[in-house]
Amino acid sequence: MPSTDFAELLEKHPPVEESLIEILHDVQLAHRYLPRPALVAVAAHCAVPLARVMSVATFYKAFSLEPKGEKVLKVCMGTACHVKGASQLLDEAERLLGCKCGETTADGRYTLEEVNCVGACAMAPLVIEDEQYHGKFKPVDMKLLLKAGE
Ligand code: FES
Repeated sequence: MPSTDFAELLEKHPPVEESLIEILHDVQLAHRYLPRPALVAVAAHCAVPLARVMSVATFYKAFSLEPKGEKVLKVCMGTACHVKGASQLLDEAERLLGCKCGETTADGRYTLEEVNCVGACAMAPLVIEDEQYHGKFKPVDMKLLLKAGE
């Protein structure tokens, strides 16, 4: 990551601990994860120990310390979705993407994740692609969804 890009990002935020989450959010948006040099620079900018930045970065699920794919595909594994076949959806996604849940495809296009109930149980089973909800999903729909994302 070019340090000048990162300096620009930091300049937008007051150098105080209260800015931590907002800054990390911006870094995550810009890079799709939180690179270690960014965490070190954020700690210096906010004048907090690196351990404090790490604790925030690892506490929130929205942050990732590993590079994510261009798109994030999430399969809800909450009870309602599970009962309606979420496991088969996850199996199909793993098969089609060629990666396991929690991993990113070799070409960097997708990261596959499972989530717990997101409060949309009426739509079960649910698949979320880049925050777009796809309800009443069937394994056969997975191929179409991934094809549409190409
Ligand atoms: S269990 Fe999937 S949205 Fe509630």
